[in-house]
Amino acid sequence: MIISITSLKGGVGKSTIAQNLAVCFAHTKYKVCIVDVDTNQSSLRWSGLRDEALPGVPVYVLNDGVELSKNVKHLNDSHEVVIIDGTPSLSQVTSKIIVLADLVIIPIQPSGLDIWATEKFLERYKDAEVQKESPIPAQFLINQNQSTNLSREVKDVLEQTEIPVFKSSLRTRIAYREAVIKGLGVFEYKDEKAKQEIADLFKELQTIIRKLNKRK
Ligand SMILES: Nc1ncnc2c1ncn2[C@@H]1O[C@H](COP(=O)(O)OP(=O)(O)OP(=O)(O)O)[C@@H](O)[C@H]1O
Ligand SMILES: [Mg+2]
Repeated sequence: MIISITSLKGGVGKSTIAQNLAVCFAHTKYKVCIVDVDTNQSSLRWSGLRDEALPGVPVYVLNDGVELSKNVKHLNDSHEVVIIDGTPSLSQVTSKIIVLADLVIIPIQPSGLDIWATEKFLERYKDAEVQKESPIPAQFLINQNQSTNLSREVKDVLEQTEIPVFKSSLRTRIAYREAVIKGLGVFEYKDEKAKQEIADLFKELQTIIRKLNKRK
């Protein structure tokens, strides 16, 4: 299964979410890896800080557009889950990782700027579906949520897109910033609320994956 985490805006939490979900898969005994397509290689650096005694999350850097599809497919043959940590650009690479995905996760911050970037993203996403000649399952994930209620405006825009939104969302928590520099996921960190939050998201994701697998 290939899960692409992508957006058209930088700093929305792609790498954070890729790493944290990969850690949950690894603790659930899945053979998982991350493909880092970003030139700043934050997932590669994160994995370099990771204690070898912890469940393994190998990270592969693949930013060569030409070889990307072939190499991701090879990794998908040797792993149960391949998580692609995307790049914040309108490049061809973004289109490729959408086409490759069995599921696209689109992190979004509940702010006007993110919502506007989403419109451009949706054009890319629709083009990718045409290119693949089949629907590509996708889910929005609200990250850095500051309140329990999303603003009406954000909900309205997301509802119009026809792409579902994860019921779970991630709050702004210092634990995400601290865990990353220790090579950890928050599931392995001391903040119980963050741990519960990522466990809830992971549970919801597993339900979605089960439904997708049934459809195949
Ligand atoms: N839920 C959160 N709570 C607190 N900080 C967060 C959260 N999610 C992400 N961050 C922080 O926000 C910053 C950007 O996150 P991250 O690097 O994951 O985004 P990105 O989409 O991968 O960025 P880029 O587009 O540059 O690759 C990082 O410093 C990260 O630690
Ligand atoms: Mg990143």
